[in-house]
Amino acid sequence: MEGNSVLLKELLTVSACSYSLLAALVLVLVTAVLGGRGEKSRKAAPGPRAWPVLGSLHLMAGYRVPYQAFSTLAQRYGAVFGMQLGSVQCLVVNGLDNIREVLMSKNNHFDGRPDFTRYKQLFAGDKDNSLAFCNWSDLQKTRRDMLQAHTFPRPFTSRYNQLDEILSEEWSHLYVQLKSSNNSKMALKPLIVQGCANIFTSYFCSKRFDSDNVEFMRMVRNFDEVFYEVNQGYAADFIPWLMPLLGKHLKRIAGWSHEIREFMEKAIMKERLESLNNNMDMDAPSGDYVDSLIEHIHYHKQPTLTWETAMFALEDIIGGHSAVANLLIKVLAFIVERPDIQQKAFEEAEAATGGRDVTLADRTQMPYTEAIILEAIRLIASPIVPHVANQDSVIAGYTVEKDTLIFLNNYSLSMDPALWDEPDKFKPERFISAEGHVVKPEHFLPFGGGRRSCMGYKMVQLIGFSILGSILHRFSLSPVEGVDYQVPIGNLALPYDTFNFKLEHRF
Ligand code: HEM
Ligand SMILES: *[C@@H]1O[C@H](CO)[C@@H](O)[C@H](O)[C@H]1NC(C)=O
Ligand SMILES: *[C@@H]1O[C@H](CO)[C@@H](O)[C@H](O)[C@H]1NC(C)=O
Ligand SMILES: *[C@@H]1O[C@H](CO)[C@@H](O)[C@H](O)[C@H]1NC(C)=O
Repeated sequence: MEGNSVLLKELLTVSACSYSLLAALVLVLVTAVLGGRGEKSRKAAPGPRAWPVLGSLHLMAGYRVPYQAFSTLAQRYGAVFGMQLGSVQCLVVNGLDNIREVLMSKNNHFDGRPDFTRYKQLFAGDKDNSLAFCNWSDLQKTRRDMLQAHTFPRPFTSRYNQLDEILSEEWSHLYVQLKSSNNSKMALKPLIVQGCANIFTSYFCSKRFDSDNVEFMRMVRNFDEVFYEVNQGYAADFIPWLMPLLGKHLKRIAGWSHEIREFMEKAIMKERLESLNNNMDMDAPSGDYVDSLIEHIHYHKQPTLTWETAMFALEDIIGGHSAVANLLIKVLAFIVERPDIQQKAFEEAEAATGGRDVTLADRTQMPYTEAIILEAIRLIASPIVPHVANQDSVIAGYTVEKDTLIFLNNYSLSMDPALWDEPDKFKPERFISAEGHVVKPEHFLPFGGGRRSCMGYKMVQLIGFSILGSILHRFSLSPVEGVDYQVPIGNLALPYDTFNFKLEHRF
């Protein structure tokens, strides 16, 4: 009994180590039929046979990244194949043309998101409160339109210049802290998450917080925990009856979210509403994202948003800082043992700036720095949020039933030796053309595409560039003895307590 419950607990996380436990369990269950094609109608996609309860979850066993399993299965069943995971009917789509069919040419057929209980828990029981996990709707279109001006600021606009100033200000704080580490072992992640959080709150909410603000520091930590959580794949997403076993875990998530909400209401919204009440200047030009949310909550700008929906929209965007911060730590871990790469970035920054601090205007002169980030994103190969068919449709000539969950296997897009020269190697220069410009091949789709594409990729590029460029301009990084800098791939998240680095000031 004891042994059983341990096994079940292990079943809950579909992380690399527990895939093998799943496999073990499946061996016990095996009584009949090895492999074989599913008995589907002729035009449905082929795929492995589904076992009772698990479906084909066991086939994910033994892979570092679930998406590697998809690539292997594709060799057997073809680029588009069906498989049942737990109780959920899924379709795995490999290959650029097929992925484009889902994301671009038929994006209105495949713009839903799965109804995972875990997502519901994170959003007060209603996944439509979430920017990333909601189904497509007019509300989602409005939210995306509202964000556009903020998350995709165009060069030379006032929003763009504001971001540039915020980045400089935040760098000045970070610089002092990095310098004082004196080339001794330091935990960089807490500083980077905090800096990124301040960039986001300054930019979207016009508020910055000092590191002695305990509630702010807690919010930053809570966001990082939630980010780690949503980046894990859980077997229980596919096997609903395992969900009760996640109870304790879900309670913790609810606790983090609750504290985040308290902070956002108290430290950001309350103050803003009070100042608006005091000078009722409703015709003042709308400034930051908070202003634009308030217009839709209070001033009946159509469509109106409920308080709850607006708060979640705000939190989702502020939460983007965790993505940028975790990515940056991974980028640094990729290059900590590569002085050659660091040197190139340093020389590029010196040439572009002549010694002053890096600004966004230098980006066009610093393609190598940008390429380092792209190369890290390629190697991390985090999966895109699954899509769901909102109607019966067809992909690659195969019928797809409404409600089928669609996995887009970008692992092959990022790692296929046919598409990339030495795909396992960290080579930023693969993103630079002969003329010295950043070039992204057509098959590089790390931010998805179509109407559910990432709302934050410009933020990732601009903020990532600014922080990485500034660090490599002023410091050289070296490894801490005994640390293995193998970067976890398959998702963006790192634990809070992660790689340490040594940073030496360059002159
Ligand atoms: C390295 C960092 C990031 C990566 C690799 C990434 C990648 C992605 C991907 C692949 C999707 C799904 C696209 C699709 O389904 O077609 C997505 C959705 C999304 N991302 Fe990002 N993202 C990153 C950072 C961010 C940041 C910083 C923000 C916020 C500022 C953000 C906001 C969003 C939102 C709101 C969605 C949902 C859009 C929708 O479903 O309509 N992302 N992201
Ligand atoms: C760093 O090194 C400098 C000069 O060697 C020294 O004055 C300073 O106290 C050191 N700071 C810390 C935090 O160790
Ligand atoms: C591809 O990989 C990126 C990260 O490298 C991931 O975030 C994204 O979701 C994937 N996109 C597609 C279309 O597979
Ligand atoms: C979201 O859309 C999918 C696909 O049409 C559907 O199966 C699901 O029930 C929808 N969920 C919600 C909460 O509307």
